Amino acid sequence: MKVLVVGRGGREHALCKKISQSKKVSQVFVAPGNDGMKNVANLVNINELDFAALKEFVLKENIEWLIVGPEEPLVKGIYDELADVVKVFGPDKYTAQMEGSKAFAKEVMARFNVPTAAYEEFTSFDKAHEYVKKSAYPLVLKKDGLAAGKGVVIPETYEEAVEFLKEFYEEDATCKLVIEDFLEGEEFSLMSFVNGSTVIPFDEIAQDHKRAYDNDEGANTGGMGAYTPVLQISKEARRQAVEEVLIPVCEGLAKEGTPYHGFLYAGLISTRDGVKVIEFNARLGDPETQVLLEKMDSDIMEVIEAVYNNEKIELAWSKDSVLGVVLAAEGYPADYVKNAQVDNFNLDGNYYVAALKEDEGKWYSNGGRVLLAYGRGQDLAKAKENAYKEVEKLKADQLFYRKDIGNKGLK
Ligand code: AMP
Ligand code: GLY
Repeated sequence: MKVLVVGRGGREHALCKKISQSKKVSQVFVAPGNDGMKNVANLVNINELDFAALKEFVLKENIEWLIVGPEEPLVKGIYDELADVVKVFGPDKYTAQMEGSKAFAKEVMARFNVPTAAYEEFTSFDKAHEYVKKSAYPLVLKKDGLAAGKGVVIPETYEEAVEFLKEFYEEDATCKLVIEDFLEGEEFSLMSFVNGSTVIPFDEIAQDHKRAYDNDEGANTGGMGAYTPVLQISKEARRQAVEEVLIPVCEGLAKEGTPYHGFLYAGLISTRDGVKVIEFNARLGDPETQVLLEKMDSDIMEVIEAVYNNEKIELAWSKDSVLGVVLAAEGYPADYVKNAQVDNFNLDGNYYVAALKEDEGKWYSNGGRVLLAYGRGQDLAKAKENAYKEVEKLKADQLFYRKDIGNKGLK
């Protein structure tokens, strides 16, 4: 079969590589992809949001599966536009609100008794202001709608909260805001393949590193590194996440007549009172996918087809640990250096590329997060050592990376 992956980042590179290894697949295309993944997929110059052009391509090439990487096309309805001509692995526009709207996700969790932080919704400065006056700190303010990681702020004091409220409501006088309690604990990510009430959770979890700099300092980013397995998070925590989060949400949505399908990602936190949900994504996580698909031994298209047919399937996993370090352009996540040169990059090396372009044999960055170098090993320490060896091979003076990826798992 022929498969088209939609997206252009490191997660899509990992998806393309994994799909290209499937026994079922004759050709992998990626729209638009980036030059760093051209050895595992055919690049197609179509934007992720150009649904008409994607449709035309799917029909012309007789594509069997469309696998959607990022959230934006999902939230904008790529499923609804293309599902009549191709099998789409991703949720429809309505259920993609699990990621697209914090309020929608909170309401779903409330309906199905899924553990999450207590919260209230606001659409006016005055009401929100009243609430933050009597709240305990720190407090979590989440703007509704897709915000590429910039919609969540965590004020430490009432005064700070008011400053944030002013910013939000000056920009939009009826801004929809979820204000929730601050949860304390260690975060982890659990992903799953879903079709209605058929849920195949990944057996392995991963941990992201959201802050830009070592020791979790600096601004929130799209993710600066990840590793799997996460042995300090108990098997019981993962079990709770499956039984108390993924299954009730998927069964609940199916019963309501709006089944979820595609990848469902739960961002979780292990607190003293058990596992709670921080957020959902309507897709795979980036950069967790890069390490998890490296660890997964199953044929991914076999799994996707089994889930599509509502068959249960056991996933197979390597015993190795896998750790990935993101190299980002100086300045990221704020204004960052453009066209940073990356020497010694090798298409067949242990890299998943987020944003590289090739020009006359030389490689240049064209985005904030540029690539992820990964290593495997029989334990996390060895995987870490191997990942940083891959980092050292590169010569890229205008990129930076964290030196402490995986340290929480090594304590
Ligand atoms: P989100 O976009 O919802 O994933 O939030 C971004 C980051 O903010 C998360 O990865 C957490 O580190 C943090 N965060 C979000 N909600 C909470 C919460 N209720 N308690 C503590 N930290 C949170
Ligand atoms: N790594 C978190 C995310 O993909 O949103």
